[in-house]
Amino acid sequence: MKTLLLATTNPGKIQEIKAILTGIPLRLLSPAEIDLRLTIDEISSSYFGNAQLKAQIYANASGLPALADDSGLEVFALGGKPGVHSHRYSPNAAADDRERCLYLLDNLKAHPQPWEARFVCAVVLYSPSGEVLRSFGECRGEIIPEFRGENGFGYDPIFLVAGTNKTMAELPDEQKNQLSHRANALRAAMPALREFACQ
Ligand code: IMP
Repeated sequence: MKTLLLATTNPGKIQEIKAILTGIPLRLLSPAEIDLRLTIDEISSSYFGNAQLKAQIYANASGLPALADDSGLEVFALGGKPGVHSHRYSPNAAADDRERCLYLLDNLKAHPQPWEARFVCAVVLYSPSGEVLRSFGECRGEIIPEFRGENGFGYDPIFLVAGTNKTMAELPDEQKNQLSHRANALRAAMPALREFACQ
């Protein structure tokens, strides 16, 4: 069975990607499982640019094919912010997930509700000999002014998923892994991933 390195140190993403890719005959490893510790500056201004950067660096450093995603939250009333800079969306560089959510809510106060938004995710698979596939997914919803749910990470507790009346942090894993932007991006890549796994 082929090995695929998941080019992320985010435990929430690793757990989600492993669950979504169950059924694809690939041995999925996290960087920690092969003692690989890299720090990558996400310097691109596009999701695909950053996903490619991460996949390429991890693939070259490990000699293994690597799958990276770059994701973010886009709030329409804020012209698509925080967007590709979702992780750094706070004047306080040391802010945690909750503080970033509070900063977002503060910026939204002046705008009328509903605060429509979407999560987006770009996925790139890179082997040491070049790019294998890229894929994109989104999940629509709205931002709400209260924290609900304990599951997930990032902006999940304040993102109400369209058609569910639940925040991303209230959804059970199985449902999040059906509806999320990451699930949609990976699902679109399934045929190519299966082909890659069986080559
Ligand atoms: P990156 O893909 O690691 O650059 O993620 C950027 C940031 O977007 C994360 O640190 C989170 O704040 C946010 N984000 C990305 N995906 C999700 C998600 O599935 N749920 C909640 N927040 C997310």
